[in-house]
Amino acid sequence: MKSGRRITNLVITGFSGTGKSLVAKETARRLNWGYLDNDDEIVRQTGKPIAEIFRQDGEGKFRELEREAIRRACQEKQTVIAVGGGAIVVPENYELLAKTGVIVCLEAKPETIYERLFRAAARSPDAEVRPLLAVDNPLERIRQLKASRQPHYAKADWTIHTDGLSVSEVAEEVVRAWRLLRRHTPRNKSDKDIAYTVEAGTQSYPIFVGYGLLDRLGEKMRQSTLSGTATIISDENVFSLYGRRVERILKAAGFSVNSFVVPPGEETKSMGYAIEIYDFLVERRTERDDIIVALGGGMVGDLAGFVAATFLRGMPWVQVPTSLVAMVDASIGGKVGVNHPEGKNLIGAFYQPNLVLADPQTLTTLPRRELVSGWAEVVKHGLILDKEFFEFLEKNVNELAKLEPKLLARAIAGSAAIKGQVVSQDEKEKEGTRTILNYGHTIAHGLEAATQYGRFLHGEAVAIGMVGAARISRRLGLLSSDAVERQGALLEKFDLPTSLRAKVASPTRGRKRSNLKLSLAGVTRAMELDKKVRGKAIRWVLLENIGQAAIRSDVPQKEVLAVLRELVEP
Ligand SMILES: NC(=O)c1ccc[n+]([C@@H]2O[C@H](COP(=O)([O-])OP(=O)(O)OC[C@H]3O[C@@H](n4cnc5c(N)ncnc54)[C@H](O)[C@@H]3O)[C@@H](O)[C@H]2O)c1
Ligand SMILES: [Zn+2]
Repeated sequence: MKSGRRITNLVITGFSGTGKSLVAKETARRLNWGYLDNDDEIVRQTGKPIAEIFRQDGEGKFRELEREAIRRACQEKQTVIAVGGGAIVVPENYELLAKTGVIVCLEAKPETIYERLFRAAARSPDAEVRPLLAVDNPLERIRQLKASRQPHYAKADWTIHTDGLSVSEVAEEVVRAWRLLRRHTPRNKSDKDIAYTVEAGTQSYPIFVGYGLLDRLGEKMRQSTLSGTATIISDENVFSLYGRRVERILKAAGFSVNSFVVPPGEETKSMGYAIEIYDFLVERRTERDDIIVALGGGMVGDLAGFVAATFLRGMPWVQVPTSLVAMVDASIGGKVGVNHPEGKNLIGAFYQPNLVLADPQTLTTLPRRELVSGWAEVVKHGLILDKEFFEFLEKNVNELAKLEPKLLARAIAGSAAIKGQVVSQDEKEKEGTRTILNYGHTIAHGLEAATQYGRFLHGEAVAIGMVGAARISRRLGLLSSDAVERQGALLEKFDLPTSLRAKVASPTRGRKRSNLKLSLAGVTRAMELDKKVRGKAIRWVLLENIGQAAIRSDVPQKEVLAVLRELVEP
């Protein structure tokens, strides 16, 4: 696609009988856009049917009127424009249309065209016989004319073969084409609310971060060309705080809205609840172009995203993260899924959202322990990739902990951008780039599993895990003691635990106190250290410096055990 285009419209063109007008109208309905038929505009302007213009004024006059009408149509925004097949043959028209719209050409075999025109003429016998049919051998005439226009049609951005498809099937293809193509159109980089644009192979999408931005969710969704029915999926805690407001915001932007509210807590992230949501969507006759809106923390995001990835083989979805973990981590990167009784996140997919919108103001209602836990991932992002960001956190930690709006939005935007950058390079965790996000997580998983997920919030375990990983890095001579201390000091200022002596000793929701006990043997078992010695070595994410991660598979067992012993049996 040409650069320098400002794409705001969709142009549907093609030979007579390919269904341009009907398809354009149906596409406009699906996108909730305006609709304009260039030929109808000419008729309206002149007060004469096209055939009469041809007869009385000649083709030259008609082409002149056509050019004028196209010029006017190109002033429109978010409009689906149907344009006669003869129009784009004229280079000037093509240039004009291509500058402001994606051009989709509808194709059909000459036989199909002949049959459709013939049937249309038969349906309304009073209508003037289309000029194409008013010749001796119409099929041959269609063939010739089509062949002569083919080079011009080939310039379209996208071609859809319409033989055997209904109008609504073709419109569905047009919407798909539009979603694919607009990724390559120049985007508005000056939108100050965009923290980062994730460029994953399967989808590119903006991450919006802004204090109070929730009120503009509908507007941002419309700008991302989403329309139709939005199904909000949320948990009871979050919905009771923000659900009605988000419903209002979306309705005001022209969406139909349904809401499905699930109980809070990790147990809800299950196949059982996914099925309940499928049932709800089926009952409401949800279509493939409708939208899922995940409103909540990471639990809701993973569950709603899993439903979006699988219902009707995938539908558009929007992440509206309301916990710190979700804003800087879970909502970005397209990992969606549910838990299996035998393990967390065992069932899932990579399925990127169409946009992410994080409003840090929602963090003012997040329980303090959840908030503190989220800072661990923010700090991690600085540690693995961005020294400057780490220093920004060091400098502003007191204000950040108090949720000072401007700094908070900056911290979240910065952290989300780092995650966005990593997943853009390695969407499906194949290149290894994404592995660095696991800094602190090897030990964290051991701690979490050894306590049956009953003692630590994830971020708390990650904080301790990062302390362990930094110490291993120092033992291997990779990292200075000074850096290890700076990491520890920042974590403590955010009130995160850096050792097991720290105060994190109350069970997480719904867990028994008996799960709190931790032993070195328990942790090494949970980390499968012994298994991995014999089989594949653990890939440790370590630090060489603040802002610089290194992946090592050759970490001696004794160093790991020494550090674990320091952590678990201090
Ligand atoms: N997909 C990924 O890449 C990814 C990454 C990290 C974590 N996760 C997943 O995310 C989940 C953890 O996310 P989480 O920590 O957000 O947990 P969560 O969604 O369970 O939210 C934590 C608690 O905070 C409440 N809450 C959320 N936002 C609130 C708000 N603004 N005000 C008041 N209460 C609010 C929730 O109701 C819940 O009780 C786990 O399931 C984890 O596996 C996924
Ligand atoms: Zn994590």
